[in-house]
Amino acid sequence: MDKKLLASFVLLLSFGFVPTAWAQKAVDSEGHQWWQHAVFYEIYPRSFADSNNDGVGDLSGITSKLDYLKQLGVDAIWITPCFPSPQVDFGYDVSDYENIDPMYGTLKDFDRLASEASKRGIRIILDFVMNHTSDKHPWFLDSRSSKSAAHRNWYLWRDGKGAGQPPNNWESTFGHSAWTLDPKTNQYYYHYFYPQQPDLNWRNPAVEKAMFDVTRWWYRRGVAGFRLDAVDTLFEDPDLRDNPVLAGTNKYGDPNMEDKYNKKLPEVHEVLQDLRRVADEHGAVLIGETWTDDIDELKQYYGEHSNELQMPMDFMFTEINKLSPPKFRKQIAAVDSAGGWPVFVISNHDIVRSYVRYGDGQHNDRIAKLMAGLYLTLRGTPIMYYGEEIGMTNNDATRQEEVKDPIGKIGWPEEKGRDGERTPMQWTDGPNAGFTSGKPWLPVPPTSTSHNVASELKNPNSILEFYKRLLALRHQSRTLLDGQYIPLNQDDPNVLSYLRKYKHEMVLVALNMSEEAHKVSFDLSGQGLVSPKSKLLLTTASEPRKDGALRELSLEPFEVYLAEILK
Ligand code: NOJ
Repeated sequence: MDKKLLASFVLLLSFGFVPTAWAQKAVDSEGHQWWQHAVFYEIYPRSFADSNNDGVGDLSGITSKLDYLKQLGVDAIWITPCFPSPQVDFGYDVSDYENIDPMYGTLKDFDRLASEASKRGIRIILDFVMNHTSDKHPWFLDSRSSKSAAHRNWYLWRDGKGAGQPPNNWESTFGHSAWTLDPKTNQYYYHYFYPQQPDLNWRNPAVEKAMFDVTRWWYRRGVAGFRLDAVDTLFEDPDLRDNPVLAGTNKYGDPNMEDKYNKKLPEVHEVLQDLRRVADEHGAVLIGETWTDDIDELKQYYGEHSNELQMPMDFMFTEINKLSPPKFRKQIAAVDSAGGWPVFVISNHDIVRSYVRYGDGQHNDRIAKLMAGLYLTLRGTPIMYYGEEIGMTNNDATRQEEVKDPIGKIGWPEEKGRDGERTPMQWTDGPNAGFTSGKPWLPVPPTSTSHNVASELKNPNSILEFYKRLLALRHQSRTLLDGQYIPLNQDDPNVLSYLRKYKHEMVLVALNMSEEAHKVSFDLSGQGLVSPKSKLLLTTASEPRKDGALRELSLEPFEVYLAEILK
C-alpha cells in the first residue's frame, strides 16, 4: 500500500469510519455478525420489477435491479414468498416449499439471482411460512383425503361440537370461524388465516422434521437466512378451550375475542430453539415477524440464552404512528436495553406505508427523510420496505370491486385490504412507473410521476438521494454501526436527539419532529465535554450549516441534523 493511501486509511479508522468491505464480513474483529451491520430491504416480488411484462414482478426483475440496490446501500434482500402457490394470500399459501412459482421464474432464475447478488455482496433472505401451507399442498391434499391418510395428523382435524357447529369459538384473523368443515371426512380443519391456509400441526415431529429440512435445502442453495412468518401462531391449546369473548365486534362483524388459546403459546420457543440450531449449522440468520404487546414479550423471542431469533422485529416501533419524540424515546430505550440486537422497521407489506402514517399531508417528503434519519441512525438493524426510499404512498382501492387482497373483500369498507401498500415499484415517470409494459396487477398511484427512481436520482434534494447519503454514512461509520445509544434532552417534546458513542468517537443525531423551527442546546458535560464542537455530517436544512460550537442549534421544521462531535 502506498504511503498516502495508508495515511488516509489510518485517518478514516481513527474517526471511527470503516471501509464497507469490512462491514460485509460474516463476523468482524469485534465479534459483530454481518447482519448487525447490514441494511435489509424487503421486496414484495409481485411488485418490484417485471422482466417479462406480464404485469407481475419476477426474480429476473429483481436481478436486473441489483445494481440499484447496491448503489442505494442495501446489504441483504428479504423476498416475500416466491414459492409455488395458488396466490390466495399472494404467496403466503405455499404449495411447494422447494421450488419457485412459475409466475416468478424458475430455480435457475433463483440461482442466477443468488449468484449475481453474491457478486455484489448482497445476501438473500427468504420468507418461511411455517404456520400453515396452502390447501393445495400435497401434504394437505393427502391429509384431507381420509381419516387414516398418512398426513392426516400433519394438520388439525376435529369433530364439530354438534350439527353445524365448529369445535370451538376460535376466529380466523382474516374473518369468521377459524374452522372449516370438510365434507369428505365430515371433520373440521383449523386455519388461523384463510380457509385456503390450513395450520400445520407442530406437535407432530414429522412436521417439524419436514419443515426444518426445507430450511436446510435453501441454506444449501445459498440463502443467508429466513424471515419467519407468523411465528406466534404455531401452537394451539390441545384441549381447544374457547377463547374469552370481549365486548363489541371487529371489522369483519365477528365478536371481539382474546386469542388466549391459539396464539403465543410457550411451545413456540422450543421450536425456535431447534430451528436456530439448524440455522447456526449454516451460519444463517433468523428474523421474526414478532408482533408483541410489550418489551418483555419481545425479549422472549431472543431466547433466554440468546438461542432463538437473532432478529425479532420490533413492531411496537411501527405502532407509534405519529411524530412523537416522547413515544419514540420510550420505545427506543426499551428495545435498546432488552439485551438482544434491536431490529427497526417502519413499513411493510401488511401496514399502511410510513409516508402516509407519519406524513401530515403537507410536508410528507421532509417527514420521510426525518423517519429515515431516525431508524437508520439507531443502534440496531434496519429493515427497509421497497419504495420507502422514494416516498411511495399508499394507493388504496376506492371501490370494493377493485380489491385484490381477500381481507379487503371480506372486510370492506372498514378493512380495505393491503393492496395500497403493495403497488408496483416506481422506477420512472413513464407509463406504469416503468414497472411493466403490460397491465400492472395493481394500479400505480398518480404520484409516481414525481416520486420515482429516475427522477429522484437526478434531484440532489430527493428522498432517494437522502437515503443514499445516509446509508453511505452509516456503512462507513463504526460509531453509527456499533456505538452506544445515549438519549439527550429527554424532556424535549419536539426534538428527538441522541448520541451514538463508540470508544471516544461520538455522533450527534437531532431530529426536529415538529413543523416549527426549534432551538436546542446540548449539555455534553456528562461525556466529559465542556465546549464541544461539531463537524456536520448530514442535514436536511435548506440553509448551509457551519461547523462550530454546539451550544445552540436552530433546527428547521422537520430537520434531520447529524454531526460528529469534536472535543
Ligand atoms: C403475515 C404476512 O406478513 C401476511 O402478509 C400474511 O397474510 C400472513 N402472515 C399469513 O401468512
